[in-house]
Amino acid sequence: MIIAVASDHGGYELKKAVKEHLVGRGIKVVDLGTSNTDSVDYPIYGKACAEAVASGKAELGMVFCGTGIGISIAANKVKGIRCGLVTSVEMATLTKQHNNANMLAMGGRTTSVDLAIQMTDAWLDTEYEGGRHQRRVDMLDEM
Ligand code: RB5
Repeated sequence: MIIAVASDHGGYELKKAVKEHLVGRGIKVVDLGTSNTDSVDYPIYGKACAEAVASGKAELGMVFCGTGIGISIAANKVKGIRCGLVTSVEMATLTKQHNNANMLAMGGRTTSVDLAIQMTDAWLDTEYEGGRHQRRVDMLDEM
């Protein structure tokens, strides 16, 4: 599996920690930047990661900014992207079960590394439930 990751400066450190964890799980990670904590604009990185997922270059994507809010908004503007901003393991689980989220967003200034890793694993290890959720996911994908 290939997962694309991207962040702005506010999410850079958390991205680095999550990326290490993904590699440790045997996942191939494509890092689309940023590559340090110098100030950059999160829409550029959210869009790049979302386009990698939407085009099929990566199966899933993970994005990080200070809060996860701006970069998730950017990602969700790309057609076919369902990016869930998560702050708990329950949210990470539900965004796979119900939304079949193909991207996950987290805040580097609001989330500990430990929680980020737990949420990442919950998202990756949970199955999409389909069924009644498929109609809604189809509606999202048509937007
Ligand atoms: C950058 O300072 C900050 O605004 C950004 O990382 C993010 O939190 C925006 O939603």
